[in-house]
Amino acid sequence: MKEYRILTGGMGAAVSNWELAKAVGECGQIGVVSGTAMDVILARRLQAGDKDGNMRRALAAFPLKSVAERIINEFFIEGGKAEDASFKPIPMFTLNPPKELLELTVAANFVEVFLAKEGHSNPVGINLMEKVTLPNLASIYGAMLGGVDYIIMGAGIPREIPSVIDAFSKAKDASIRINVEGAAKGEEYTMTFSPKEIMGDMLKEIRRPKFYAIVSSNILATTLVKKTKPAVDGLVIEHNTAGGHNAPPRGGINLDDNGEPIYGQKDEVDIEKIRALNVPFWLAGSWGEACRLKEAIAEGAQGIQIGTLFAFCKESGFVESIKKAILEKMPDVFTDPKASPTGFPFKVVNLEGTLAMLETYLKRPRICNLGYLRHVYKKEDGTLGYRCPAEPIKAYIKKGGEEADTEGRKCLCNALVANIGLPEVYKNGYVEQTLITAGDTLKKVREFIKEGADSLSVADVIDKLIGELSPSEA
Ligand SMILES: Cc1cc2nc3c(=O)[nH]c(=O)nc-3n(C[C@H](O)[C@H](O)[C@H](O)COP(=O)(O)O)c2cc1C
Repeated sequence: MKEYRILTGGMGAAVSNWELAKAVGECGQIGVVSGTAMDVILARRLQAGDKDGNMRRALAAFPLKSVAERIINEFFIEGGKAEDASFKPIPMFTLNPPKELLELTVAANFVEVFLAKEGHSNPVGINLMEKVTLPNLASIYGAMLGGVDYIIMGAGIPREIPSVIDAFSKAKDASIRINVEGAAKGEEYTMTFSPKEIMGDMLKEIRRPKFYAIVSSNILATTLVKKTKPAVDGLVIEHNTAGGHNAPPRGGINLDDNGEPIYGQKDEVDIEKIRALNVPFWLAGSWGEACRLKEAIAEGAQGIQIGTLFAFCKESGFVESIKKAILEKMPDVFTDPKASPTGFPFKVVNLEGTLAMLETYLKRPRICNLGYLRHVYKKEDGTLGYRCPAEPIKAYIKKGGEEADTEGRKCLCNALVANIGLPEVYKNGYVEQTLITAGDTLKKVREFIKEGADSLSVADVIDKLIGELSPSEA
């Protein structure tokens, strides 16, 4: 059996898009798409004119023809929307989302996986974040309909996901617990997704993909392998130098003089203990060097998960101007303890003109209109509400949130969608700005650019990483 040595880091939103994942698959490794915010991304790609027709082509393969047609009728604009026009809004997720939103989410994840799988026969995965909880069931189901081979989830404790995948593969309903702030002890909230309600007569059993959990501690790795039923099929061990969100340091966040969280020996994962769990595992976070891949294999890892190096390849979803600016300037990376509404540290690239810069951040009027990172809370009257520490401060406080939690928070939802060239444009002329994340080893990206070239490709990265493997390692 072929050994895969490189797993694409799932990079939201749509940085690991279908084009990047397909390119990795064509190079013989495992391509992964990000499943985060795919509903709004599909709706906006269609409103941007779907220039090469890929969205509509993939929708034509979606099993529910009437749903595909409705989505195209609702969102597709021939030639694309006017540059100064706003996108048509879609509803934000709640515990009881409208059926149209569930259908859009299922279709969008199907589309991304379907396109990523074209042109090669290597496996494709989808990355989802446990903290972006509410769309996850519909996203998983859509990806499974698209034939996804791996579901990979981090940013939380995805204990219930293996049984969700089991249920969906058997065409059954599945539920997950929802964390509700202010709920009484023992009070449980769940969200259920019913394949039957979406698929109707088209409901079928589908192949079960494998499930990998992304973890940053031995305790969590052990729990997910030994105490979760069914167990996870594999692990991605992510170091705090990785791009995107990082697990908070164990024992709480203390900051150094630079304002970054202090990580120490307690945050290092003991690989010997991981090996003893006897499941395939991948190492993530600063492993992007040929010698480190050999080291990872020698440690017993299946391979390495690569994010930062792929993020700035020509095939990734970041807009061209961002890739160019990063490759030219190679700015510093700051582990921001406050930026993310999740409360997890988030790596931010100090690039001029982005929300990393105070003056750009302060110019943004706070608004919450995508809502993927909203927290669910229990109101005084017992009903549920939704709030985000990056929303307008007054509204957040009115909903019972603490003012201190709003400080320095950034609207990742809008920024990440702006990063891929689909920024919201408001009536007052304000255009959502970008905010770039990358791992601590960003400066190494340049070493992968071929002499004389001014851009980087997936093939350049993979060739250099696996080129030094011996036949027994490859
Ligand atoms: C631009 C970018 C976005 C990312 N977004 C996500 C994400 O949405 N979900 C996730 O699990 N990891 C995310 N990551 C982490 C990667 O999946 C991967 O684990 C990490 O990049 C590996 O370390 P490296 O950056 O040193 O290659 C992101 C990383 C980058 C660079």
